[in-house]
Amino acid sequence: MIGGRILHGGDYNPEQWLECPEILEEDIRLMKEAGVNCVTLGVFSWAVLEPEEGKYEFGWLEDIVDRLGKEGVQVILATPSGAMPHWLTQKYPEVMQVQADGKRNLPGKRHNFCYTSPVMRQKIHALDRELSRVFGRKENVILWHISNEFGGNFGDSTCHCEQCQEAFRQWLKKRYGTLEALNHAYWGRFWSHVYSDWSQIHSPAPNGEYTVTALKLDWQRFSTEQISDFCAEEIRAVREFSDLPATTNFMDFFKGLDYHRLGKELDIISWDSYPYWHEKKDEVPAAVRAAACHNMMRSMKKQPFLLMESVPSSVNWRPFNPVKRPGMHMLSSMQAIAHGSDSVQYFQWRKGRGSYEKFHGAVLDHKNGSNTRTFRQVAEVGERLAGLTEKLNGTVNQPKSAIIFDWENWWAVEDTTGPRLDLDYVSCVLSHYQAFWEAGIEADLVGMDADLDGYRIVAAPLNYMYKNGYAEKVRKFVENGGIYVTTYFSGMVDETDLCFIGHHPLEDVLGIVQEEIDAPSPEFTNSFCYDGNEYPAGGMREMIHAVDGTEVLSVYEEDYVKGMPVVTAAAYGKGKAYYIAAEPEQRFLSAFYADRFREADLVNPLGVELPYGVTVTARNGEDGKQIVFVMNFRNEPVRVDGIGTWTDVENGTIYTDSLEMGSFGCVLLRRQIR
Ligand code: GLA
Ligand code: ZN
Repeated sequence: MIGGRILHGGDYNPEQWLECPEILEEDIRLMKEAGVNCVTLGVFSWAVLEPEEGKYEFGWLEDIVDRLGKEGVQVILATPSGAMPHWLTQKYPEVMQVQADGKRNLPGKRHNFCYTSPVMRQKIHALDRELSRVFGRKENVILWHISNEFGGNFGDSTCHCEQCQEAFRQWLKKRYGTLEALNHAYWGRFWSHVYSDWSQIHSPAPNGEYTVTALKLDWQRFSTEQISDFCAEEIRAVREFSDLPATTNFMDFFKGLDYHRLGKELDIISWDSYPYWHEKKDEVPAAVRAAACHNMMRSMKKQPFLLMESVPSSVNWRPFNPVKRPGMHMLSSMQAIAHGSDSVQYFQWRKGRGSYEKFHGAVLDHKNGSNTRTFRQVAEVGERLAGLTEKLNGTVNQPKSAIIFDWENWWAVEDTTGPRLDLDYVSCVLSHYQAFWEAGIEADLVGMDADLDGYRIVAAPLNYMYKNGYAEKVRKFVENGGIYVTTYFSGMVDETDLCFIGHHPLEDVLGIVQEEIDAPSPEFTNSFCYDGNEYPAGGMREMIHAVDGTEVLSVYEEDYVKGMPVVTAAAYGKGKAYYIAAEPEQRFLSAFYADRFREADLVNPLGVELPYGVTVTARNGEDGKQIVFVMNFRNEPVRVDGIGTWTDVENGTIYTDSLEMGSFGCVLLRRQIR
């Protein structure tokens, strides 16, 4: 456990209040009242840390770090590259990003620097190195927080400047070796898009080349590489005088950057979670999305991650910004812990007075000090977490199932030029994950490069692209007894978006032959039956044939495709492969996976069917240590029956057979051994 305890606190921006010593005094006093034990400093402090080029002013920061240290508050120290000071952009305009149409950005905003620019890299390296020298060995500094939300500048997060173009060409040379190989991979003779010189290659742009899908894929890969390399360089700088671990804060499902790649540079994964609670009265979709993200972050290292930012009340950037209703702050904080976080951190400690985020929720509002509903809710979380350190130390979730979520597939499948132009990969993955969540069966979310050993079920919805080696890995997984589930429009193309020809790469394992894929308009409905219930077939419908020996579980019920397979099961080696040929609705997925869980002998930790809106997950440690989290995402009490005997690890209550929970409740249980 980093820092030796569950961290509770958040982004703290005292540089905005340096003229108000009484505010800084109050901060420290109230942090203790709120059970805050860790703050993140310096995220956007470049202009204050280096007010003029090469002139460092760290006194104010050192003073605050030391004062926090005396009060037992630990510090996550950020490097300030998230936003650039005006002296830098004025003197070196090349540090600012160039947009796809070739226009250079103007100064301001944040997260908008060029990742290639040598000037940018030199300037931040020098500053980071100095931070390392002054703070890298301070006792209460526990972690480096590199930059902030890499890539997150709302829109195209890549830079198209000349230096980036040149770096892109070099990167392509390394990847393909010859232009001939690149032209082949890009299917260049189509529309005469053959390159005859490397210098002709330009990044994809709406007013330029936007039809070569493989070029767009490579541009995304290259940008991820540049950002990862930039991050690695910052890590080298802060390590010059320090051996503290490093993280950077990720964002939800962020399409602009392959987190599986960037994650390799980091010691600890952390992320900023802002679920859209209370968008609807049914909180399940928001809970499922947050849970899936937590799982993805945990799955990257199979280690606890950190919740680096969350909001204690409401954000300010959605069209509707509901504050958290009573109970939701505790529940969403505990949800992160339940899925493997070792922290609950907020953005931010105190609301600023001016500029863009003055109405964004914070622990302290502009008025009323600690006498607010939000502050009391935060303090309750602080108190609860303080009691959990020992119980959770050394534990993490260890699922036996995985869902494939892969960035390169995401880029490719949503850029496909048919059969539908509105495919939504994240929603599709989330609908499969929801079936796991509802059943209380925990699942990792992993990329195609992940090791599949140890899983009993692997689901790969809308797995359009197969990376090199993936088909072989899946074949082995099934051969060795795994259950593999995949869907329509899977296994279509290779890494450069070239269609597989002749056969589907997993035809032998799946036991089916793909023929046509229909993307009908909504008037042309169809349906299929599974286990006696009828379900609609959605807007993607493949026509497949089952090979001899493949079991057909469902067929189209209507129209000229009547009788053709929709759901199939094929035995292969010691395992089984399932294919879902038509886009299903949630109800079907829940029923279908319930059968797969039985087949794989997977039961949730409570061993019972859960009421809608309730889920369960467990953190496991050595010697059979297990803490089970039961969470109710309904704004009304629920009862879970038939659970056997459990002890509430926080208050010792014994539950025999049935558990009653309040609205948005969360309880932590340990199996009672008699
Ligand atoms: C992100 C950023 C923070 C802040 C919050 C607001 O997570 O990292 O600096 O802007 O969003 O929700
Ligand atoms: Zn650039």
